[in-house]
Amino acid sequence: MDHNATNGNKTILSKIAVEVPLNPPFYKPIAKEIEVFEHTYKNKLPVLLKGPTGTGKTRFIEYMAYQLGKKLITISCHEETSSTDLIGRYIIKGAETIWIDGPLTKAVKEGAIIYLDEIAEARPDVIVAIHALTDHRRELFIDKLGETIKAHRDFMLVASFNPGYQKGFKELKPSTRQRFIAVSFQYPSPKIESEIIENETGVTEALARKLVNIANKIRNLTELGLTETVSTRLLVDAAKLIHSGLPKRLSVKVAVVEPLTDDEEITTALTDLCDLMI
Ligand SMILES: Nc1ncnc2c1ncn2[C@@H]1O[C@H](COP(=O)(O)OP(=O)(O)OP(=O)(O)O)[C@@H](O)[C@H]1O
Ligand SMILES: [Mg+2]
Repeated sequence: MDHNATNGNKTILSKIAVEVPLNPPFYKPIAKEIEVFEHTYKNKLPVLLKGPTGTGKTRFIEYMAYQLGKKLITISCHEETSSTDLIGRYIIKGAETIWIDGPLTKAVKEGAIIYLDEIAEARPDVIVAIHALTDHRRELFIDKLGETIKAHRDFMLVASFNPGYQKGFKELKPSTRQRFIAVSFQYPSPKIESEIIENETGVTEALARKLVNIANKIRNLTELGLTETVSTRLLVDAAKLIHSGLPKRLSVKVAVVEPLTDDEEITTALTDLCDLMI
């Protein structure tokens, strides 16, 4: 669901998705993250999923919400995301002013899992708003109503964070980070990564392995100075194109090489390397 709201003369676009998948999401565990999450859920501790792009953070929370039978409310945070977007606002309807709960307030009341994707991107007042929800108080203060609400016993807060994303990236303050149990996502082992690719796309094991080998080769080329390297997502995308009939080399070029860099020399070097390996 796309939710548009107006704040003064500025239009805020907050992407809010309430996900209730029909089929169980496919998720392949990388380490002990499922076990850790089950215990954080039992103890209703907030969780921070950290790791580079395309390493399965979103898929993991979708999977966990499904397994636990919980509604998942996802907010994709960006630099304009404010506490008002999350908590709620008054809107004018005819001659009346009515209060509308924001997604966070809804999740707190209903006992859903709220997923604040890329939390570091949000405005600082978002961090302030969640403070009392991330400690023993488990409460949300709605300043515009002058009300404090206690979280439903099933409410859980999950956030994601991509450390060292790019130059001038936003950091999370230690006082914020230390409110979360942190689960780190990394590129999986070759065996697991190729199983993910096979499962997601239906390509053969041999082809999945080749894609994983390409990825690991590029991941080790640290001298290229890429901001982010080949993610599992890119490999899945390449495999999808190949599976649907696009030539292998072209698929790898457009799905793996081109998204990584705009530098012509690096593009040529990586394309040559991939052509040899696929
Ligand atoms: N462990 C995994 N099990 C199943 N699929 C995975 C796994 N890891 C990655 N994938 C695949 O990679 C794709 C990208 O993963 P996902 O969207 O969860 O990444 P992310 O960490 O949330 O990235 P971003 O930081 O960009 O939001 C998924 O759609 C899925 O195809
Ligand atoms: Mg994600």
